[in-house]
Amino acid sequence: MTTTAKNPVPTRHLGTTGPVVSALGLGCMGMSALYGESDRAESIATIHAALDAGVTLLDTGDFYGMGHNELLISEALRTAPAAAREQALTSVKFGALRTVEGGFTGYDGRPAAVKNFAAYSLQRLGTDHIDIYRIARVDPDVPIEETVGAIAELVEAGHVRHIGLSEVGADTLRRAAAVAPIADLQIEYSLISRSIEEKILPTARELGIGVTAYGVLSRGLISGHFTRDRQLGPGDFRGMSPRFQGEKLGRNLDLVDRLRAVAESKGVTVAQTAIAWVLAQGPRHGADIVPLVGARRRDRLAEALGSLDVTLDAADLAAIEEAVPAGAAAGERYPAAQMAHLDSEH
Ligand SMILES: NC(=O)c1ccc[n+]([C@@H]2O[C@H](COP(=O)([O-])OP(=O)(O)OC[C@H]3O[C@@H](n4cnc5c(N)ncnc54)[C@H](OP(=O)(O)O)[C@@H]3O)[C@@H](O)[C@H]2O)c1
Repeated sequence: MTTTAKNPVPTRHLGTTGPVVSALGLGCMGMSALYGESDRAESIATIHAALDAGVTLLDTGDFYGMGHNELLISEALRTAPAAAREQALTSVKFGALRTVEGGFTGYDGRPAAVKNFAAYSLQRLGTDHIDIYRIARVDPDVPIEETVGAIAELVEAGHVRHIGLSEVGADTLRRAAAVAPIADLQIEYSLISRSIEEKILPTARELGIGVTAYGVLSRGLISGHFTRDRQLGPGDFRGMSPRFQGEKLGRNLDLVDRLRAVAESKGVTVAQTAIAWVLAQGPRHGADIVPLVGARRRDRLAEALGSLDVTLDAADLAAIEEAVPAGAAAGERYPAAQMAHLDSEH
């Protein structure tokens, strides 16, 4: 069974105006927050292993552990070989407002706030620029033109290289792209989260905006490693996510069993099949999609990288589609209050 990539990680151009990045990015969120306990030394070793393998895109948010994630990435970059450090690209989300207890109280996309968030992120990251900068969720009280305009001023000043968006719908994509070049849209996309296919993906493609897909393993649910009896610690997002609850979890894991049968017939793992499916959707939709994998251990990273060697032909894609048809997931991808913040779902 393939567990790691045999070949160097290929690269992709992120949209028509964005940077060249590795075909898989590393999402670092789970190393600091939302998925329970993580191991700092193993997290840094995972980032180093990713850079060593040729992964150049590191995704974070200033609110992942209230700065913890950026400081972790900073340490990993500082202690990585110079060549790897120079190739690394940081993709940073901002805007979420937190409480001391860890709650989320809203989003701030006012221009002065954007520049304030960026100043703190640059300090924590220990870099002189952020490669891609985006607001995590649209601030409902601030027109997207103003938020993107403020990032464009940061680009002008050399503090940011490219502008991204996160979880926005087709109309917001158009409004933002009218203000300044947009490199990529970061949005959830997986075998069991396919709502972007109808309007958002075609619009991104039309506008030359790249797509970085998160949740390609649906936060571990469709990784093949999640079990019915797994105990989740306090603060673990999955403890509140509708798809991980009771009978819905059982139905979703039944889908994973069906996917496992397809994976085994190809001699690869469930996670590799799920990631390879997202990779294969890029060309089908006329533009590449770069998955951000949330590995926080080197063994998980090696497995994820192995997906780059998995070729899915038309028969494989049909078998996967039959195992996990569009819309088959039980439950929404976020709790109701968080769904309400998603411009992409309106
Ligand atoms: N823009 C947004 O709104 C948004 C939202 C969420 C995330 N993101 C970004 O996207 C990144 C990825 O999201 P995600 O963490 O939800 O994605 P994911 O890759 O769907 O899920 C990651 C989880 O899957 C499990 N897993 C099992 N096998 C794996 C393997 N071979 N490789 C990787 N993970 C495996 C791991 O759980 P265990 O370690 O528990 O086994 C891991 O914590 C985040 O780190 C963050 O940077 C963006």
